Amino acid sequence: MLLELSGRGPKHEQLASALRKAIRDGVLAGTVPPSRRLAADLGCSRWVVTQAYAQLVAEGYLAGRTGSATRVRPVGDAVAAKEPPRAAAPRYDLAPGLPDLRNFPRRPWAEAVREVLANTPHTDFGLPEPGGHPRLRQVLGEYLRRVRGAAPGTVLVCGGVTDGVTGVCRALVERGSTGLAVEDPGWTRLRRAAEDAGMTVHPVPVDDEGLDVGRIPAGVRAVLVTPAHQFPTGSVLSPRRRAELLAWARDVDGLILEDDYDAEFRYDRRPVGTVQGTDPGRVALFGSVSKTLSPALGLGWAVLPPQWTVRAHPPPVLDQLALAGFITGGGYDRYLRAARLRYRARRDKLVEALGPVRLSGVAAGLHLVLHLDRDAAAVVRKARAAGVKVADLDGYRTTPGEPALVLGYGNLADTGVEAAAGLLRQAMTTA
Ligand SMILES: Cc1ncc(COP(=O)(O)O)c(C=O)c1O
Repeated sequence: MLLELSGRGPKHEQLASALRKAIRDGVLAGTVPPSRRLAADLGCSRWVVTQAYAQLVAEGYLAGRTGSATRVRPVGDAVAAKEPPRAAAPRYDLAPGLPDLRNFPRRPWAEAVREVLANTPHTDFGLPEPGGHPRLRQVLGEYLRRVRGAAPGTVLVCGGVTDGVTGVCRALVERGSTGLAVEDPGWTRLRRAAEDAGMTVHPVPVDDEGLDVGRIPAGVRAVLVTPAHQFPTGSVLSPRRRAELLAWARDVDGLILEDDYDAEFRYDRRPVGTVQGTDPGRVALFGSVSKTLSPALGLGWAVLPPQWTVRAHPPPVLDQLALAGFITGGGYDRYLRAARLRYRARRDKLVEALGPVRLSGVAAGLHLVLHLDRDAAAVVRKARAAGVKVADLDGYRTTPGEPALVLGYGNLADTGVEAAAGLLRQAMTTA
């Protein structure tokens, strides 16, 4: 190993600095040379080497014990230096999932947090209640009644839709009910969460009326659906299918898990009310702020039928109280009104910029489906090479189907819509 001693200052400091760099770069690992030998190699006194080693032991780069060899400690930087480089972030990210992160309501949220810190009684700084803070549970119950037509039930505060669904799946397994019908195509992460909780999932086809209820296999007594805005096809569960779904739940004495993930965003009319509002004894309703504010908050809820108790992971109490204050102070409604206008305008602009292509999905949420006349995987690759990230609809299906892309516009900068659409159109014609 070559150690370059350079720079100003005493020799032992120059040596410490060279060793530090060698460790960070991953060049020096394992045992370091004995001080006598290194001193001979460098043509310096042994004291210089022992001083440098002692400095690096104090800084945590080296571990030295009397009587044994001095070793390099695997410090964070050295480990990070060896990690493979991450793939470059796409210039335009149209993979579905994120809301408009640039427009997170920083100021109103900070104000809600400040209010909580200033006014929350000290008694709230004790151990958190497992089902969530009573204040937020009450506020969410009222909000969901007002905005989503939800019926009263047991409101549980949890870490998000995934956390709530996981909790209910675990409770189902404990009750001996292990079959879960899921939408095909559907959101892969929730399907996996259900499997991790011990359920066997049964994919059921989706068409432009939503889940094909008649095809739920016999013997299955729980179903996970996105009635207000199917993910990813963008269809809405038709009134006929809603009635069939509720009749099915009554017939099999089953449970409907209603994923209401982005229902706040409907642009052509008022969003359809929840299925839970029609039969709260048969439906568990799930929602979160992952699509309205940010998934980084990890704030979600479930409204459960009366006899259900579920273990979930409620977020920190101060965040729960901030959300309660944000809702009751009117900040959440104001933010959603502005976000709706922004998303609607962005969706219109994207549709226009894509030109004469076949799109599907109602005017809602943060994504739409673009149908292709050629291999979707090839278009995804071409687009990615041009700096545009899009998702292949097959990624959400259990078996490959008609080629299509899922385009998420939630976190696409308004200034990038036309350029992204142009690059995507080019990828579609050249793939
Ligand atoms: C279909 C669907 N359900 C639920 C969620 C939200 O999940 P969570 O609240 O666990 O972040 C998302 C977010 O991407 C989603 O796409």
